Amino acid sequence: MKNDKNENYLIPEHVAIILDGNGRWAKKKNMPRNYGHVKGSENLEKVCKAADELGIKYITVYAFSTENWKRPEEEVSALMKLLRNYLKDCVKKANKNNMRIRVIGEINRLDKDIRDAIMELDEVSKKNTGLNLTIAINYGARDEMIRAMRKAMQDAKEDKFKIEDFNEESFGEYLDTKGMPEPDLMIRTSGEQRLSNFLLWQLAYTEFYFTDVLWPDFDKKELEKAIQYYNKRERRYGGLA
Ligand code: IPE
Ligand code: IPE
Ligand code: MG
Repeated sequence: MKNDKNENYLIPEHVAIILDGNGRWAKKKNMPRNYGHVKGSENLEKVCKAADELGIKYITVYAFSTENWKRPEEEVSALMKLLRNYLKDCVKKANKNNMRIRVIGEINRLDKDIRDAIMELDEVSKKNTGLNLTIAINYGARDEMIRAMRKAMQDAKEDKFKIEDFNEESFGEYLDTKGMPEPDLMIRTSGEQRLSNFLLWQLAYTEFYFTDVLWPDFDKKELEKAIQYYNKRERRYGGLA
C-alpha cells in the first residue's frame, strides 16, 4: 500500500476493532437485527483476510460485551449461536490459514460447548505464525481488570511477589491480553464515539479512528482508509514528537 509520494504506508502491528452497527444495517434493509449479525460475522472473516494481506499482525475484535446480556433474550441466543458456529468453523480453518486465534473475556459464563471450542481453538492454533485474531466474548475491561486484581491479590497473599514490586508491567501479566502488544490503532464503526468498556488499559496510547460505515459494509478499502488516517497522526507516547 503506497501513499501519494509512492512511499509505503506504515502498517499498524495491532488493530483493535469495535464492530458496531449490525442492527442499524439490517434495519435500513427492512430486515431483522439478527440478519445484520449474520452478515457481520461473515464480514469478520473478510476483514481478517484483508488485514493479513496488508501485513497487520494482530486483530482484536469486540464481539460480545459483558453488557450485551441485557439485550432481548432472543437476540442474545442468536448471537451466541453465531459465535458458537464461528468458533467451530475457526477450529477447522485455523491451520489452513496459519491463524493464531484466542478468545478474551470472562468465558466461564458461556455454554460448555462454546468453552470447549475456545480451548480447542487455543490448542490447535498455538503454533501458527500468521495473523493473531483475538475475539472478545463476554468481555468488559472493568471486569478484566477486577479479575486481574483478584488473581494478583491472591498471589500477593501467597507471597509470590512483594506488593511494592507490583508495577504496570506486572499488572499486564494478569490481564487477558497477556503477551500481546498494545493496539496501535482502534477502529469503531457506525458513528459511535465511545469505548463501551473495551480494552481500557491497553488503549492508553492508541490512535482512534471513527467511521460512520456500518460494520457489515466495512471492507478492505475502509480498512485502508483507517491506515491512511493512522499514518497522518504523529505518535507521541508522552514524549516529544
Ligand atoms: C454490533 O452491532 C454487534 C454487537 C454488539 C454484538 P449492534 O448490534 O450493536 O448494532 P447497532 O448498534 O444496534 O446498530
Ligand atoms: C459495543 O457495542 C460492544 C460490541 C461491539 C460487542 P454496543 O453496540 O453493545 O455498545 P453501546 O451499547 O452502543 O455502547
Ligand atoms: Mg451497537
